Amino acid sequence: MTRANPIYQLRYAVRHPDRVVPHLRRLTRDTWFRLRTRDHVSYYRAVMRSDTARNPEAAVGSKSHARWNALGRMQFDYLVGHGLRPDMRMLEIGCGNLRAGRLFIDHLQPSCYYGVDISPDILMAAQEVLADYGLRDKLPHLTPVRDLRLAFLPDAHFDVVHAHSVFSHSPLHVIEECFAHVGRVMKPDAWFDFTFDRTEGREHQVLREDFYYRTETLVDLAARHGLTARFMDDWERLPHKQSKIRITRSAG
Ligand SMILES: C[S@@+](CC[C@H](N)C(=O)[O-])C[C@H]1O[C@@H](n2cnc3c(N)ncnc32)[C@H](O)[C@@H]1O
Repeated sequence: MTRANPIYQLRYAVRHPDRVVPHLRRLTRDTWFRLRTRDHVSYYRAVMRSDTARNPEAAVGSKSHARWNALGRMQFDYLVGHGLRPDMRMLEIGCGNLRAGRLFIDHLQPSCYYGVDISPDILMAAQEVLADYGLRDKLPHLTPVRDLRLAFLPDAHFDVVHAHSVFSHSPLHVIEECFAHVGRVMKPDAWFDFTFDRTEGREHQVLREDFYYRTETLVDLAARHGLTARFMDDWERLPHKQSKIRITRSAG
């Protein structure tokens, strides 16, 4: 039974009565945003605007500053452990307010970090993080985007592409758009890591905010765009609810 099933939701409400009112509030707000926007990206941008106005760290999914730090550190340590070097060029898709980005920026040489996000509001919060953490001299790029075609970025430019907790908020056509274009901006031996909410049952979504996919759906989708996808078993050992897939341009 998926989270979208009314019986699941009823049982959940009985177990967590304190979450019913916040959920209903969110449902009302999201319905309003859906009625006022024409596509998923515009809708999710409105969600981010509203969430960021309340608290940018909560808007990227962290309940406390300690969690914000810990989640950033987990992403950073994982990528450095997998070979992210200071001389590499990195693209972060859905960089948010630099929960991990601030650590990547600090680690990389100046101008080697490129963060994109659909939400101008969270990018403004990201600028504050840059100033707060003394990272001005690193001169990273922070760019708002309408879609994931990456049309303004050069061919074969990035060594590493990273998207944490972005496809967990994306319908399949948004992920497919990314897969159709990301290979062009990756160097031949680059890798692209992304997390996703994994289900082994039926694929589903909740409030069009949270999307649950089977691993094979994303692996097959990547293959249709000439990319090789690999499930990252070592990420499963970390204390995080999402799973991770690595995409490369070549086989392996
Ligand atoms: C849960 S937050 C995670 C932010 C960051 N990756 C982190 O781990 O702190 C998701 C971010 O992805 C952005 N986002 C969602 N869909 C996107 C898309 N299709 N293209 C680019 N950014 C997107 C949101 O605006 C938000 O900043």
